[in-house]
Amino acid sequence: MTTEVRSRIVGTGSYKGEGVLTNHDLEQMLDTTDDWITERTGIKERRVVSKKIVTSDMAAHALGQALDMAGLEPNDLDMIICGTVTPDRPLPATAAYVQKKLGASNHCASFDVAAACAGFIYGMSIADVFIRTQKAKRVGVIGVELLSRVLDYTDRNTCVLFGDGAGAAVLVADESDRGILSTHTYTDGSLTELLIIPAGGSVMPTTPNTAAERLHYVRMEGREVFRYAVRYLSEAARTALKANNMTNDDVSLVVAHQANIRILDGVAKRVDIPLDRFVLNIERFGNTSSASIPLALDEAVRGNLVKSDDILLMIALGGGISWGSALIKW
Ligand code: UT7
Repeated sequence: MTTEVRSRIVGTGSYKGEGVLTNHDLEQMLDTTDDWITERTGIKERRVVSKKIVTSDMAAHALGQALDMAGLEPNDLDMIICGTVTPDRPLPATAAYVQKKLGASNHCASFDVAAACAGFIYGMSIADVFIRTQKAKRVGVIGVELLSRVLDYTDRNTCVLFGDGAGAAVLVADESDRGILSTHTYTDGSLTELLIIPAGGSVMPTTPNTAAERLHYVRMEGREVFRYAVRYLSEAARTALKANNMTNDDVSLVVAHQANIRILDGVAKRVDIPLDRFVLNIERFGNTSSASIPLALDEAVRGNLVKSDDILLMIALGGGISWGSALIKW
């Protein structure tokens, strides 16, 4: 009889950066108020890293911390997966820079996943398949975004929402009943235009005009994304629980993408899990896209909020529109 192999998270880490941009700072920069941002989103401040930091610095720091917690060395990794839509460069993968910065010299496969705010869930899902099929034993999964470099600080519809950050987890093959129980990933490609950076790719290569017209910054139809977020995240949560013969009562902690406290509140009501079972750090970090879940997870782990055998539900949705879930027995 073959034993089932699961992927278990044995280390987490993060990079938060030191620069804090508060709602009051934004009040000085554009036509907005602390009251509006707090009431409509739950955000009070977000991090903006210094100009000398690049995405792979943040990612390498977070994965380094996760490796330390796991008691592993960079060369122990079989794979590095980096969820990001704000890479160091279009080419090569940010994960390749992370490998170099960590000093891993074992040629482990290292690649990026561009699933926006769902990037960490997608990365975990890929890692889980490699581990379950025994093609990898130890995988580093990162969610990292340096969004302040692609935000238009004259556009109050977007710049007040997002912040910089990174989080990481080390997943290892485990033969106990603990670890990732399931992952589900989805994309609705009919909704691509709701959250985009218009220029810089093959559709609209970079020209002086694209720069002058501010087409290299994030643009979002916030109200529409909000609507889909509540609906699809609730559906994903229900599907994850059903697939594991569990109910809302089985969930110890929800580690959800922190985009808007009103979205989380809407999901909490629809899936009937009280908001006090959600890890919440949106007030301090805003929306850090793919970094959001691993950053919240790292804070929960280091704050001793997660105990052995706890059931963790992770859900995220973002540009694509792409979304997904992971259900974990800790
Ligand atoms: O991470 C990827 C997924 N992203 C999300 O999940 C984000 C989803 N969307 C949202 O979180 C919300 O839709 C927003 C926070 C982006 C916007 O909140 P909203 O309640 O949907 O506001 P709205 O877009 O309907 O705008 C309401 C009003 C508008 O004014 P009028 O037209 O009613 O006069 C906006 O111009 O609020 C105005 N507004 C602002 N006012 C002050 C929009 N942004 C601001 C601002 N400060 N920063």
